[in-house]
Amino acid sequence: MATMEAYVLESYGGPEVLQRKAIPLPEPQGDEVRVQVKAVGINRADLLQRRGRYPQPGEKPPFEVPGLEFAGIVEKAAPGAHVHLKELGLQVGSPVMGLLSGGAYAQFVVTHPRLLLPLPEGLSFTQGAAIPEAYLTAWDGLLQGGFSLGKAVLIPAGGSGVGVAATQLVKAGGGTAITLSRTPRKVELSRDVGADRALLVGTDDVAREVREATGGRGVDLVLELVAGPHLVEHLQLLSPKGTVVVIGTLGGGEVSLPLGLLMAKRARLVGTLMRSRPLEEKMDLVQRFSREILPLFASGTLVPRVHEVVPWEEGPRAHQILEENQNFGKVVLEVAS
Ligand SMILES: NC(=O)c1ccc[n+]([C@@H]2O[C@H](COP(=O)([O-])OP(=O)(O)OC[C@H]3O[C@@H](n4cnc5c(N)ncnc54)[C@H](OP(=O)(O)O)[C@@H]3O)[C@@H](O)[C@H]2O)c1
Repeated sequence: MATMEAYVLESYGGPEVLQRKAIPLPEPQGDEVRVQVKAVGINRADLLQRRGRYPQPGEKPPFEVPGLEFAGIVEKAAPGAHVHLKELGLQVGSPVMGLLSGGAYAQFVVTHPRLLLPLPEGLSFTQGAAIPEAYLTAWDGLLQGGFSLGKAVLIPAGGSGVGVAATQLVKAGGGTAITLSRTPRKVELSRDVGADRALLVGTDDVAREVREATGGRGVDLVLELVAGPHLVEHLQLLSPKGTVVVIGTLGGGEVSLPLGLLMAKRARLVGTLMRSRPLEEKMDLVQRFSREILPLFASGTLVPRVHEVVPWEEGPRAHQILEENQNFGKVVLEVAS
């Protein structure tokens, strides 16, 4: 039986439970393709899954391999995949990036071609692996929040993978990006990637800075990555009829929310999750992203921010970097062939 190497979760716990193992090489069926993975983006969700707190949706696979995004080369196509590949301008041998609901920490993955994006011209595999989850999540959040030219967006956890992508997307869309971080170094780096105001939580007068940046109106949209008790503070910074899109709960998933504030602002509170979305919805989003946003990478308007590329053998260290909140932007695991 042909095998491949993958990081398999056989128990849950700290980074050390990530162990490389030989497991069966997956065979593409129906309209699927097999991609030889060159690099994998590490996400906060992977840390939760490793602790046994965020299982892959659907039936439990025989080998639990984490990983939501990858870049690599289309290596094999099942007979039904060719029509999709052709439609997308891809073929066996094309460099691609992709979104998964699990399984990317492996030398090969099997997926549907419509979940793939062509790797933009001039980008390396390690840069490509830093794109799908962060940029799709941020862009989808902006769409759900009604973002358009001239709008002001608050981005808590501005130094996270999603936060950096959001900052770049807001600037590319002609908006005002206001980021928050708890780490002075990340505040500086947020300015480097285009934030109009990058604020240090606990030190800067966030309310005053937001008023100044928005002509007293407040932000039109909060891309909520932190939540917990901070959700109320962020809601207070919202303009009338603004929207809070809850994407992450780094600061806590349980909140006590004064609904009077929500009502007085006539605000919208929206929750969103990428991983468990129906496949068709995900494919449509990926392909719309391909048409509308991907050209901005080829032109250099958007530049994936890779904090560190970690060698394949050092998967646990890649998790440690996120665990210790060291990263600004993405950590990428380079996959050995
Ligand atoms: N809804 C979805 O579909 C979806 C998709 C992707 C990601 N997400 C979520 O989006 C969030 C960001 O993910 P990511 O992978 O981009 O994160 P990441 O790269 O790991 O960055 C997280 C950063 O958030 C800050 N942080 C951590 N704990 C915090 C806390 N308790 N309070 C305030 N700030 C905290 C830290 O920066 P500082 O130095 O500033 O503290 C940390 O570096 C996560 O909650 C993730 O689960 C959701």
